[in-house]
Amino acid sequence: MSARILPPTPDAIAQAVALLRAGQLVGMPTETVYGLAADASDAEAVARIFAAKGRPNDHPVIVHVAAGADLSRWAASMPDAARRLMDAFWPGPLTLILPRAAGVLDAVTGGQDTVGLRCPSHPAAQALLAAFGGGLAAPSANRFGRVSPTTAAHVADEFGDAVPLVLDGGPCEVGIESTIVDVSTPVPILLRPGHVSALALSEALGGAVLTRAQVDAQRSVPRVSGSLSAHYAPRTPLRLVDAGRLADEVAAETARGRSVGVWSRQNPGGAACWLEAPADPERYAQALYATLRDLDGKGVDVLLFEQPPAAPAWTAVRDRLGRAAVGSGQA
Ligand code: TXA
Ligand code: MG
Repeated sequence: MSARILPPTPDAIAQAVALLRAGQLVGMPTETVYGLAADASDAEAVARIFAAKGRPNDHPVIVHVAAGADLSRWAASMPDAARRLMDAFWPGPLTLILPRAAGVLDAVTGGQDTVGLRCPSHPAAQALLAAFGGGLAAPSANRFGRVSPTTAAHVADEFGDAVPLVLDGGPCEVGIESTIVDVSTPVPILLRPGHVSALALSEALGGAVLTRAQVDAQRSVPRVSGSLSAHYAPRTPLRLVDAGRLADEVAAETARGRSVGVWSRQNPGGAACWLEAPADPERYAQALYATLRDLDGKGVDVLLFEQPPAAPAWTAVRDRLGRAAVGSGQA
């Protein structure tokens, strides 16, 4: 059996709210990727998320809130940097890590003294949050380590009847997960790059934001699951190849009797399957996960993706691609 997929009509939202109040999981569209939502104040419901995803219990999940929600229920304090970023980017694809308020479940924070909050801009997510009235814990709706979902069908494929209802908000506009900024520290730290860029963040802050690379050296425990090197991974082995080497690599694989799937701007020729990659980073991000799933399903032996440009606009995409390549090939 598989999940019911319903457009986000008032009736479907009411059904989703009833399921959430009963401790069940609901597939929730957001502008970044689809989330697997549960009542963030119900420990058993949050435990269901971890069970469905096969995710380690000590990984924190983001709490999604409605626009204008009272944040004091979740955050113990609101640093000035948080206010500035919320004013500039909420609702939208930005998650803030804040000092946790007393009552926030350990299952949500992973036992840490901080909580991740996000106010998504997708109208169906906002409608669900407003009708529900509380916070929704929601990681990306994929099995742990696998490719994040950007359509309702992806969510249903991934979980079957473990998720009774998926609200269909159409394909996600952004396509990669939210930017995460830790504002619980004296200087804000960019923990996960995303659509909201480091430059946009520092403009809104009127000051610098540290990158994860700058801080990683001092930190031994991974606080963001996206910081584990293997993530967003297809089952087919994936390699990133510079544009100039693509035709040679396809020929070499083919000579070894291996069929190749390619995602690149120009067709290098000789691939069993080639898809054209968008030349601009926003359209590339939008297409990335659906393309990974699509090519992963073609039954080819290896995937070769053209390495995108090194320019800052491609940072978030390069981050996800690098992790997808590291984790790939583990059927
Ligand atoms: O765009 C998104 O953020 C999507 C949609 C559904 O909102 N959600 C998402 O959730 O990507 P997830 O769980 O796949 O990734 C959230 C990341 C995790 O890597 C988690 O470790 C980190 O946020 N995170 C959550 N709370 C945290 C905290 N208190 N401190 C540090 N990292 C935290
Ligand atoms: Mg995820």
